[in-house]
Amino acid sequence: MSRKVGILNGGGDCPGLNAVIAAAVKVLINEGYEVYGVIRGLEGLLNPVQTVPLNLKNVHEITSQGGTILHTTNQGRFTSKVGSGGALELPKEILDEAKSNLRSIGIDTLIVIGGDGTLGSAYQLQKAGINIIGVPKTIDNDLNSTDRTFGFSTAVNTVVEALDKLRTTADSHNRVFLVEVMGRHAGWISLYSGIAGEADIILLPEIPFSYEQILTKLRQDKQKGKNYSLIVVAEGIKTEFGQISQQTSAKRENVLGGVANHVMMKLSELSGSEFEMRTVILGHIQRGGAPNAEDRILSQQLGVAAAKSVVSGEFGIMVSVQGTGITTVPLAEAAKGLKKVPVDHELIATARDLGISFGDL
Ligand code: F6P
Repeated sequence: MSRKVGILNGGGDCPGLNAVIAAAVKVLINEGYEVYGVIRGLEGLLNPVQTVPLNLKNVHEITSQGGTILHTTNQGRFTSKVGSGGALELPKEILDEAKSNLRSIGIDTLIVIGGDGTLGSAYQLQKAGINIIGVPKTIDNDLNSTDRTFGFSTAVNTVVEALDKLRTTADSHNRVFLVEVMGRHAGWISLYSGIAGEADIILLPEIPFSYEQILTKLRQDKQKGKNYSLIVVAEGIKTEFGQISQQTSAKRENVLGGVANHVMMKLSELSGSEFEMRTVILGHIQRGGAPNAEDRILSQQLGVAAAKSVVSGEFGIMVSVQGTGITTVPLAEAAKGLKKVPVDHELIATARDLGISFGDL
C-alpha cells in the first residue's frame, strides 16, 4: 500500500472545507504519510493533472478560513449527476484516465469531500479500483446517511443575522420581507433559521403552500397588531410552475433563484396594495465566510475520522455523523438519497406551536 494519499473537494464550496483538509493532513503527516491536494475537485485528476503537496506549513491557520484552498467546481468531465438524485455512469475512459494519473504519481487512496454528486462519482472510482474515503459536504444538510453536514450551522447563522437586520427595517416601514435562502431539495436551512430568527412564515420544498394561506396568516398577524412580517422562503419550493430557476441546463442542475420574487408578485396580485412587500435573496452569502465554532469542530472531527480510516485501511466508506459521534457507512449507501425534512419533524411541530405558519393551514 502506498504512503501517498490524495485529498480533494468537489461541488459547491462550504464553510469548513479547509478545516476538514487541515485536520486530515495533520493526522496523516503525523502517521508518516505524504499528502497531495487535488485542485478543482475530481477534474484535477484528469489531464492536465493538478496536485499540490500538503504539509503542516500550508495547512497552518486555514481551519478558520472559508472557501477551500484546493478550489472546486461542480461542472466538468467528471460531473456524474443530472437533476435531482439522478446518477450517470461515468465513461470508462474518464475513470481509466483518473486511475492511471493517480497511479503514475503513486497515489492509490483518495479522501473525497463532497455532496451526493461528487460522492456518486467517487463511488464509481472506488469500483474502478481506487481506495476512497468520503466526507459528506453541503450547507443544505440534506445528505442521507449522516445526521449533520458541516457548513449548515454557519449558513443558518448567516440567515439569522440577516433576519435580525431585516426585522428593524421591516418594522420601521411596516413591510413584509420575503427572505430567500438556499435549500434546493430540502428546507433544513429555512426551518432552522426561520425558528431561530423568529420568522412568521416559513416555506419549505417539503410542504405545499397556498398564496391564500400566506395572506390569511399575514392578515391575522396584522389584526393582532403586528406591523411587519418576515417570511423565509427556501429557494427550492414548488410553485404552480414547479421550481423557479434562472437557467436550465441538460448537463447539470438548474440554477435556482428568484422564487421569492415570484411569491411576492403572486401575493401582490391577490392583495393589491394591502401589504408593502420586499424580497431579499441571500444566495451565496450563505456559503461564504469563515465557519462558525460548531462547524470548525465538526469539520475537524470528520477530517480526523477520514484520516484514521486511511491508517486503518477502511475504504469504500463515508465518515458520518450519527447522533453526537462519528461513524462510517458504506459509500454505496452514502452516495444515494436525499434527506428531506419529514413533515412530522419535531421542529415543524415546535414552529407551529410558536405560531409560525408553513403557508399550508
Ligand atoms: O447544494 C448546495 C447549494 O448551495 C444549493 O442550495 C444551491 O442551489 C446550489 O448549491 C448553488 O450552486 P451554485 O454554486 O452552482 O450556484
